[in-house]
Amino acid sequence: MKNMIAVILAAGRGTRMKSGTPKVLHSILGRPMISYVTGAVSRAGVKDIVVVTGFGSGKVKDFFYGTRVKTVVQKRLSGSADAVSAAKKEIKGYSDVLVVYGDTPLITEGTLKSLIERHKSSGASLTLLTAVLKDPAGYGRIIRDTGGKITKIAEDGELREYKKETREINVGTCVFARGGLLDALKDIGRDNSKREYYLTDAVRILSARALKVESIAMENSDEMIGINSRIELAAAVNIMKNRIMEELMASGVTIQDPATTTIYPDVKIGKDTVIYPNTIIESGVRIGSDCHIGPFARLRGGTRIGDKAEIGNFVELVRTVVADSTKIKHHTYLGDAKVGRFVNIGAGTITANYDGKNKSSTFIGDSSFIGVGAILIAPVKIGKRALVGAGAVILRGQNVKDGATVVGVPAKVLRRRVGDRRKTSR
Ligand code: UD1
Ligand code: CA
Repeated sequence: MKNMIAVILAAGRGTRMKSGTPKVLHSILGRPMISYVTGAVSRAGVKDIVVVTGFGSGKVKDFFYGTRVKTVVQKRLSGSADAVSAAKKEIKGYSDVLVVYGDTPLITEGTLKSLIERHKSSGASLTLLTAVLKDPAGYGRIIRDTGGKITKIAEDGELREYKKETREINVGTCVFARGGLLDALKDIGRDNSKREYYLTDAVRILSARALKVESIAMENSDEMIGINSRIELAAAVNIMKNRIMEELMASGVTIQDPATTTIYPDVKIGKDTVIYPNTIIESGVRIGSDCHIGPFARLRGGTRIGDKAEIGNFVELVRTVVADSTKIKHHTYLGDAKVGRFVNIGAGTITANYDGKNKSSTFIGDSSFIGVGAILIAPVKIGKRALVGAGAVILRGQNVKDGATVVGVPAKVLRRRVGDRRKTSR
């Protein structure tokens, strides 16, 4: 028998999002919210994952195409228990089933690991993740008997007044022994105001059969937030951003104003680099040590920056590699460029990297100096120690030789520069 499989529930319409896009594909820092869930599950050691899709299932399926994550379709959206039933075939042969809701993207690997450990060590039929909230409105509440044993989960809509005070809530993440799950699924009915099959009914059923229902309480209650509306989505983005930035700061990066800075997941930044306000750094960007980035810089995918570089205000870089000690300080756009060491890129320099059909590359050699307002039409190569005059336009393929000075529109060679590599100035 195989160990554990995860079933991620993501079929719901997400009515409160008021969107044509399935809720779980709404983006948090450049990635669909469900990818955070599948990521945390797989980092927690559960490698077999099945996602239950329904509303917009084609789009969810496309997103996972070519990955290890399987998808199944829940035909009619008649509740979370029915959603789990849609994955019945996939869970065959596993001893335990981890269930996670696709709209809880803040859940962490660490919490999932503790939940799984508790489930294994206690030998329970069902282990629930719970949290105690100041404002539990909207969540299912954990109901315990006088001895503290969990007897059921009462959904918000089904609560009678006196139970509304219960502040311990159901996060939605839980681990079932497969046998217990299958038994409970048979008995879950639709006896509730929504006429849906609630997975949370499994608690009442298992507990009534004297099967063990365990729980583990979550320490950081941010993690359990379920995203049902765009307001909650914005709150989740904010929490995720802060997590990412706190990790970077702990590793030796200064972020002057986290409130106006956005750093996506999977960004690496070396120590003693300073990020100034209003900067956006997207996934996959790598930045070395001792750099100054921003204010108002935008570093997009595929960008790599060496050590001691300065990227200033209103600079956008995409798929661009910048070597050590180079300065790009004001109002510049470089796309598909490779820039050497000790280069100075003047204010307003632009690479024309897209001709409407193709994207082409620009190379700028070590110790070159690009004057303000230069336009470099790609593909083009500027040699080492070259000097491009202010406002020059370098046409496609008009490569500039090492040490040459070019000026004008279109640029012409003025003279060859001789002597040592020039030092750049601020
Ligand atoms: C659910 C829980 C509630 C818990 C809360 C935590 C139930 C009955 N209630 O309430 O106890 O406190 O989450 O956030 O489970 N889904 C399907 N198919 C369906 C219905 C739902 O796949 O037919 C999926 C949704 O896509 C979603 C998840 O199940 O990912 C939960 O559904 P949702 O409607 O958001 O439940 P809540 O009312 O938030
Ligand atoms: Ca929800």
